[in-house]
Amino acid sequence: MNKLESESEHSSSLPAAEAVDAIENLSGVHPGYRRAHAAGVCCRGLFRPSGLGKEFTEAGHLQEQQVNAVVRFSGSSTDPVLADLLSPAKGLAVQFVLPDGEVTNLVGVTVPVFFARTPESFIDIVHMAHRLRTGTLGPIELMKEIVSHFSESKEALLAVRRLKPPASYAECHYYCIHAYVLVNAEGRQQPVRFEWVPETGVRTLTLEEAAQQPDRYLEDELELRFKDEPAIFQLVAVLGEEGDATDDPTHAWPGDRRRIDLGRLHISEIIPDPKDLLMDPTALTTGMLLSDDPILKFRSATYAESYGRRIEGR
Ligand code: HEM
Repeated sequence: MNKLESESEHSSSLPAAEAVDAIENLSGVHPGYRRAHAAGVCCRGLFRPSGLGKEFTEAGHLQEQQVNAVVRFSGSSTDPVLADLLSPAKGLAVQFVLPDGEVTNLVGVTVPVFFARTPESFIDIVHMAHRLRTGTLGPIELMKEIVSHFSESKEALLAVRRLKPPASYAECHYYCIHAYVLVNAEGRQQPVRFEWVPETGVRTLTLEEAAQQPDRYLEDELELRFKDEPAIFQLVAVLGEEGDATDDPTHAWPGDRRRIDLGRLHISEIIPDPKDLLMDPTALTTGMLLSDDPILKFRSATYAESYGRRIEGR
């Protein structure tokens, strides 16, 4: 996507290249890798909808027919060789493949909120985080510095600080953070936030256990797990109510919102990374709309920019 296209299609006038350059600056350029969530593992999945989604949306994967999925678990770092333990937040990106071949994606992480409210503050915060690389700030000082300039970051940074090392990619709770809008056959619109809840519960490691893990322990664990059983996640839609902001990924909705069980994702096997896989979180299907969240809209162009660079081996 060129600069003009990305500027006209998205609400911010910031070019995606500027965001991707800022991200690259955190740990340097690693040719061929995603510019964020660089280390990861792809798997084959099957999504079995519960049927309860039909009341809210016409989306093909949320009716009654099961659909194939490509899944990628990842660590959040920009550095592909960083050990699993050193990137606290983990990602789960799911590409549903509808019967007619159309794809739609849901991308989540293990914290419920994001640290920036707008693309502009995202870029400023990432520039600030560069001071970790130059050694002028340690991790704790950096968090304090960010919160003192960007109070919107507080909830996300606290959530990151509370993270414990996961025992398995399959035993993490993932949040897709942004609001989306589901649209049913009558045209009724319902704002939702999606979550992936692990069927076997959340399990973390003690510091002693964590200290004994090899760099890529999470991928090793998945390989062993798949010999005996699949990893299973429940897809939940949290229903937004009157007054719940749909344009602010830095704040969670109240905890008492109604939750709908949309179905289960069964992940059974590690597969080689499909070279052309792009998990754009704005790739939707009939029965789904983007919310007015400016970060969500901006992600599309930045993911395309990162994809373009890595596909060209840059
Ligand atoms: C302005 C905000 C954001 C920017 C600029 C950004 C940027 C990026 C970029 C450049 C990539 C690599 C894309 C690729 O090469 O395919 C990426 C991947 C990823 N991001 Fe973001 N991101 C943002 C917000 C978020 C949020 C809010 C979440 C969580 C909901 C998230 C979760 C992920 C995950 C899980 C991946 C890995 C996707 C995969 O496995 O293919 N990002 N991000």
